Amino acid sequence: MLAELEAYQATALSALGGAADPAALEAWRIAHLGTNGTLKGWLQRLKEVPKDERPAFGKRLNEVKSAVEGAFAARRDAVGTAPKGPPLDLTEPGTAPTVGCRHILTRTIDEIVDVFGRMGFSVATGPEIEDEWHNFTALNIPSGHPAREPTDNFYMGEQGGLRRLLRTQTSTVQIRAMEASRPPLKICAVGRVYRPDTHDATHFSMFHQIEGLYIDRDVSMVDLKSTLLQFAHAYFGPEAEVRMRPSFFPFTEPSAEVDMKMPVKGQWKWVELGGCGMVDPAVLEAVKIDPEEWTGFAFGLGVERIAMRKYGIGDIRWLFENDLRFLRQF
Ligand code: DAH
Repeated sequence: MLAELEAYQATALSALGGAADPAALEAWRIAHLGTNGTLKGWLQRLKEVPKDERPAFGKRLNEVKSAVEGAFAARRDAVGTAPKGPPLDLTEPGTAPTVGCRHILTRTIDEIVDVFGRMGFSVATGPEIEDEWHNFTALNIPSGHPAREPTDNFYMGEQGGLRRLLRTQTSTVQIRAMEASRPPLKICAVGRVYRPDTHDATHFSMFHQIEGLYIDRDVSMVDLKSTLLQFAHAYFGPEAEVRMRPSFFPFTEPSAEVDMKMPVKGQWKWVELGGCGMVDPAVLEAVKIDPEEWTGFAFGLGVERIAMRKYGIGDIRWLFENDLRFLRQF
């Protein structure tokens, strides 16, 4: 066995001499010094050696081990290790780190809320899963009204005797704000709303609205129009204009559609942005606010409308596909 060990040392060392590059050297290391390598095998075979010969054999084995390991270290210094990557060229221009950016809708929302914040509106929120009371009844949308049709809503089952649904409008937050605090009240609310629309370039089953509500003594239509005009000037610039067209919403009386003249790809154009009006007395009564003492206005604008026109985005679906090539443009 001792002779075999001597032979092993000779073979191992001669194989090492033949390892001429880092890859060959590494293969040799694994074969001989690795966890399942031949040297480990020899250490295990020590048990087979008769007891009285074992000390001498063990001593020799240790010498072989150091010789082989020593030779490997020397060989590695001679051959060198594999380079870790491409050579470093200090004269090359650096690569700039990629910085993320906010989604164009998030940015639009933040900017809009910022403007209303400066006009004294505080931010209110409400749940996206709503009940019939907040989405319809308190907003003066009676049972049997077509807006409650199952085909126009995502109903989600009942709770406490009220059907629940994904809210179809942020007007729900008006009700929640008036239930939570007494007037005077000046809030805005932004968020997602849901309608079972077939997806196309201008329709998506989820989109965003910004809602405004101001309840105080002697609030009039003039306050409504001047608030919208101030917003338009602050957000789109001093040339912006506001136009109101008579309309109907159950929760406002009188009601109007809001158009704003805004820059669309460099040209000032009228764009229909949403609805507004004076809060209907029936809505105030639903939340136990005395309509003889308090009056108010409300408005609701489409965030995607604003962003798409302002940035020339031709398809609402692009906003929600998360294609980085699209998102990185803004
Ligand atoms: N909730 C309406 C919609 O989704 C928009 C709206 C109209 C909101 C008039 C209002 C309002 O607050 O006064 O179509």
